[in-house]
Amino acid sequence: MSENLTGKRILVVGGARGIGAEIVRRTGQDGADVVVATRSGPEVRIDVTDEATIARAAESLGAFDHVISTASAHHDVPVPDLEHDKIQTAFSTKVVGPLLLAKHFAPRMPAGGSFLFFSGIVGWKPKSGTVVKGTANAALAALVTHLAVELAPLRVNAIAPGITDSGTWDRLPDERRRALYDSAAAASLAGRIGTLEDVTDTARWLLGAGWVTGETVHVDGGARHR
Ligand SMILES: NC(=O)c1ccc[n+]([C@@H]2O[C@H](COP(=O)([O-])OP(=O)(O)OC[C@H]3O[C@@H](n4cnc5c(N)ncnc54)[C@H](OP(=O)(O)O)[C@@H]3O)[C@@H](O)[C@H]2O)c1
Repeated sequence: MSENLTGKRILVVGGARGIGAEIVRRTGQDGADVVVATRSGPEVRIDVTDEATIARAAESLGAFDHVISTASAHHDVPVPDLEHDKIQTAFSTKVVGPLLLAKHFAPRMPAGGSFLFFSGIVGWKPKSGTVVKGTANAALAALVTHLAVELAPLRVNAIAPGITDSGTWDRLPDERRRALYDSAAAASLAGRIGTLEDVTDTARWLLGAGWVTGETVHVDGGARHR
């Protein structure tokens, strides 16, 4: 339990599933007052690619101590197959979305407030077919340093997970998912893939880590070093 989070008001964009849902559950157990925003509502509707939904939510919900976004949209194809609209959606979701969340929520944030966004290991491990995701994840890491300077003393950080069993890979057929997990475990220094607990423990720590800002914390079992 993180005592730093007791009574804090937290907005989790993308909080209905995967890592976001686990952050909602664990910070709720910590005693935080957690609001879940998803593209479809019904509690709160935020589509980070649609500024009007962000502006409306900020206006109607008031101040949050912490704003988190796990939103991502992938376009994992080789260069000859890239599609302009899908490239834009990927960047709009992972990079522009956090900028707009900062624009609308930062002015209402109390002292001690922070933003937490999600990057990913592929930003540091280029491989064929992931140029869009990799570049967007790396851009997000640059973004948090800039936002941290401009919004100080509010804090702005990111987590860059390695391959994590968050539920997102359940869309793959069993055999492909197992192969992905096996190769990711072998490619890490820790010899395993990540768990929801690995990532959410780091998220809870970062929300309360008052002297950490402008950082991207790599939670990948050391995989980017191999
Ligand atoms: N799991 C991994 O192995 C891994 C590895 C590296 C990085 N990451 C990063 O960690 C973050 C969380 O991962 P995850 O595994 O929990 O992913 P996930 O299960 O795919 O969850 C992504 C969330 O983003 C939401 N979302 C997508 N587009 C949105 C938009 N335009 N506006 C608002 N919400 C939107 C989705 O909501 P809907 O329900 O509406 O689709 C979903 O809740 C992501 O940014 C991912 O790139 C994950």
